[in-house]
Amino acid sequence: MFKTHTAKNAAFIFICSILAGISIASAQTKITINAGKPGVQISPTMYGIFFEDINFGADGGLYSELVKNRSFEFPDSLMGWTELKREDAEGTLSVRDDEPFITGKTYGEPGNAHYLRIEVKKPGKGFGVTNEGFRGMGLQKGKRYWFSVYARSLSDEMTFTVEVIAEDGRKITEGRFGGIKGDWKRCPFVMEALDTDKKATLNFIVTSPGTLDIDMVSLFPEDSAISYPSNSMPIPGLRKDIVQMLADMKPGFLRFPGGCIVEGYDLSLRYQWKNTIGDISQRKLIKNRWNTEFKHRLTRDYYQSFGLGFFEYFKLCEDIGAEPMPILNCGMACQFNSGELVPMDQLEPYVQDMLDLIEFANGPADSKWGKVRADMGHPKPFGMKMLGVGNEQWGPQYIERYKVFAKAIKEKYPDMQLIAATGSDATIFPNGPAEIEYLWKQWRQLNPEFVDEHFYRNPDWFLENVNFYDDYPRKGPKLFVGEYAAQSVGVASPNNRNNLKSALYEAAFMTGMERNGDLVRMTCYAPLFGHEDAWQWRPDMIWFDNLNVYGSANYYVQQLFSLHPGTNLLTVKLSDVPNLDDTKKALSVSSTLDKKAGEIIVKAVNVTNKGLKAEIELSGVSKAGPQAKAIILSGKSLDDENTLEEPKKVSPAEKSVPVGGPSFTYEFQPYSLTILRIPSE
Ligand code: AHR
Repeated sequence: MFKTHTAKNAAFIFICSILAGISIASAQTKITINAGKPGVQISPTMYGIFFEDINFGADGGLYSELVKNRSFEFPDSLMGWTELKREDAEGTLSVRDDEPFITGKTYGEPGNAHYLRIEVKKPGKGFGVTNEGFRGMGLQKGKRYWFSVYARSLSDEMTFTVEVIAEDGRKITEGRFGGIKGDWKRCPFVMEALDTDKKATLNFIVTSPGTLDIDMVSLFPEDSAISYPSNSMPIPGLRKDIVQMLADMKPGFLRFPGGCIVEGYDLSLRYQWKNTIGDISQRKLIKNRWNTEFKHRLTRDYYQSFGLGFFEYFKLCEDIGAEPMPILNCGMACQFNSGELVPMDQLEPYVQDMLDLIEFANGPADSKWGKVRADMGHPKPFGMKMLGVGNEQWGPQYIERYKVFAKAIKEKYPDMQLIAATGSDATIFPNGPAEIEYLWKQWRQLNPEFVDEHFYRNPDWFLENVNFYDDYPRKGPKLFVGEYAAQSVGVASPNNRNNLKSALYEAAFMTGMERNGDLVRMTCYAPLFGHEDAWQWRPDMIWFDNLNVYGSANYYVQQLFSLHPGTNLLTVKLSDVPNLDDTKKALSVSSTLDKKAGEIIVKAVNVTNKGLKAEIELSGVSKAGPQAKAIILSGKSLDDENTLEEPKKVSPAEKSVPVGGPSFTYEFQPYSLTILRIPSE
């Protein structure tokens, strides 16, 4: 009876193994770590963040303004606004640009020509406008919100009321402002939310007869992260809960502002950093290039207000301890779109923009652009060390332009580290592999400090390519793997998922990048953000709605690598690792030493549905343990994912594990990324 059972069990296990695609290993897996010979220093910027204003990443996301089209600058100037007319009220609305409100400094093109005129014949029960927010507005009970508007009265003393109304009609908060006379004036006040809603709208109601002009209608949560003084009230900036998610990663760098947004659909939509600094009410708005990029995810109300501009990016980097990594346009629009080029003899203003940016970031407070930074509230330089010349560009036209930029920058700022690109992912851009080969040939001669490679591939590719960088030439530029993410269905497919499978397969690939840490010096996942109701591209690392934010399984993988980089690379030898199938291994491992903590760090990814026992040998170590810390990210199924309802379904757990000495056995959990921190001498 017993025998039959055992045989049945064995057969069952065998069948399960086949179903899971695991071949039976003949001997126990062994991980040998050469800890006696610490290798190169792991780059402190090894794990960073890629930011792009895609998926409502900035306006409607990280930037905490709740009013959409606050200055009536959208081409459809009342987009986001509707007339509000209660019962017997009478009045008219018109968007105008004669004698507009202009205040504060602008350093780029002037950007706020329009304002709204509200003419009230009969205030009755209320005449004005309603703003719909970014797929609604999120307000939380008990929190305070700053309302402000610039107003000009063409009549006697004018008065207005502001109401915030929940989706179901409840009034969440209300405020009044009176005595408005004469020319443009800022009218600010604070309101407290008496209730919570994530789809609220704002009513602006003129309560006296006459004519009132308004501009820069604004509502911010008081507890925004980052603020700096401007006029009579601090200008708030970024959503605190989202910034916290970034800070919790302890990122080595922040790449901004993209992505394809740097290039623009055509050059008129390219990112121009000078238009994004100075007084926020004067920053020139443009259409977001993701507005109509995907026919299946049209987002016609997607614009860039640049309330989150270059000053704020640098400040954010400083606040979360990340090195700033701006990427600027190099005279080329997106080659997937118009591919518009700036003629070679007209590149000068583009080159000057880059030189000026370096002065803005690093120049003394009395230099031309350093003074602009100082006037914005930051006399101390930001200490920018690297700069990207173009995003996903390719072809000889890129090389000839790159040379002009590199020459000018290196002449003036020889220490500035330059980042050049290898086009896009080889599988999606025209003539991919040949193009990449051509670019690499050029880069090996021109020697930018970093070359940026992108991978948007299916999850299997990541697991199959754990050894991708093992045989890369060591001479020449270092690698910046500046965009990658496993696409579970297809590149940018709306059906892609941030599931455990994609996260673990990326983690396996990351062990490969880490093992090649002498060459791969910087890496980041892309894109960063997705608004649940307004995304264009998925998968994304961090998801949010107007009130909540959560990290995907992929976020926690990134976070674990970033929180446990170690200081020096250790070589790892693996033997008797079971195969998942013909092209993939069941276990991927990297290891580093944390000199300061006196710990050996092992990162291991088990992609099978079974525990995987391995003998771990720390060679060159006299003492290890007696306890190690294991931080484990795992799930029951490869389809597991985090959601608004279950934001921490796939999230790391910690435990202590006994370690008897430099040689010990550990069982890696099914479907897991494990970080082992082993105290060692
Ligand atoms: O991450 C989304 C897009 O993918 C980026 O904007 C671009 O650089 C890449 O093609």
